[in-house]
Amino acid sequence: MKTIDDLGELRGKRVLVRSDLNVPLDGATITDDGRIRASVPTIRRLRGAGARVIVTAHLGRPRGEPDPKYSLRPVAERLGGLLGVEVRFATDTVGPSAQQTVSGLSDGDVALLENVRFNAGETSKNDAERGALADQLAALAEAFVSDGFGVVHRRQASVVDVAERLPHAAGELVVTELRVLRQLVESPDRPYIVVLGGSKVSDKLGVIERLLTTADRLLIGGGMVFTFLAAQGHEVGTSLLEREQIETVRGYLETARERKVDIVLPTDIVVVSKLEEDATATVVAASAMPSDQLGADIGPESTKAFAAAIESAETVFWNGPMGVFEMRPFAAGTAAVAHALTRVDGLTVVGGGDSAAAVRQLGFSDDEFGHISTGGGASLEFLEGKPLPGLQVLED
Ligand code: 3PG
Ligand code: MG
Repeated sequence: MKTIDDLGELRGKRVLVRSDLNVPLDGATITDDGRIRASVPTIRRLRGAGARVIVTAHLGRPRGEPDPKYSLRPVAERLGGLLGVEVRFATDTVGPSAQQTVSGLSDGDVALLENVRFNAGETSKNDAERGALADQLAALAEAFVSDGFGVVHRRQASVVDVAERLPHAAGELVVTELRVLRQLVESPDRPYIVVLGGSKVSDKLGVIERLLTTADRLLIGGGMVFTFLAAQGHEVGTSLLEREQIETVRGYLETARERKVDIVLPTDIVVVSKLEEDATATVVAASAMPSDQLGADIGPESTKAFAAAIESAETVFWNGPMGVFEMRPFAAGTAAVAHALTRVDGLTVVGGGDSAAAVRQLGFSDDEFGHISTGGGASLEFLEGKPLPGLQVLED
């Protein structure tokens, strides 16, 4: 895979950088700028080399047309603050504003183009539609740097098609992410423990199947727990449940037994009748959930067991919160897992925009973990061993 060094002399060159600046917003306020910070090293390096840097990125999932809710304008400001330089903002992606902004750049200047997903071509399944947008993006620049690790699993115009049209290289973030994730896949120090949470088991089926051959232990929390508990024949009340996955999950439990991989489920659950900050929560055995309540977090006994397991590991990968951590009464499980990771004497990797935001919201700092991946879906698909189109295209 080519890196920025392979692009040669960059002074005066227009370089298009695909970053993942998809940050959580509360109105126009950025609530977690981790992805913006992670994109800084590549941009700073290109500026330092005298390139004219044009950043393209997406925010949220607009429907292929401009939608002010998803404007990248607030991100341009924050990026500028972090770089210590003005970031010029183009109010379109490849239109007159983009062209004018790009032609006004001097060596070392930085521009951010408006949300690339305001263009239907970006996410189109049709090669020609994506290609047409990629042609326009490519026309803005002389080289392409792929640095949006969080989107390399997407076959999208600004990720894949544009790389086919320009001399290209992987950016620093992509290189760093791959170095860490490869270690998990190829040679994890053991025991290697994976902690999975989040709401949907259907998002994680592929990776669970794969982890049954690579990890020593799987700790399961979050909403997906209830499909596992249901697969074991337990009542799960009004909790999140993916009925259509029960059979598949039962199969995983069986495979795990045969391969002697430990799947560890919580033994107690925090339940409430309604998800509210001031709801009266009780702790029940995972095998005795009341039919009229729902699970909101793993219970204290499980939390202790999970923490002890994590602390005994040499390698830990964690994706997905253990409970509804956004509400204080249901944050204990997630906080305990995060805390246990900080005590591991070995490599710890936190995967995913949401998990990364969770640990920061809970007051942990990035340097307490070995690596915080900016990619959720991307890191899971990588661990699953799937070919990622945004990486494949960089190999040619
Ligand atoms: C993410 O947040 O997972 C990445 O930015 C990719 O966004 P997407 O899931 O909307 O494609
Ligand atoms: Mg996603």
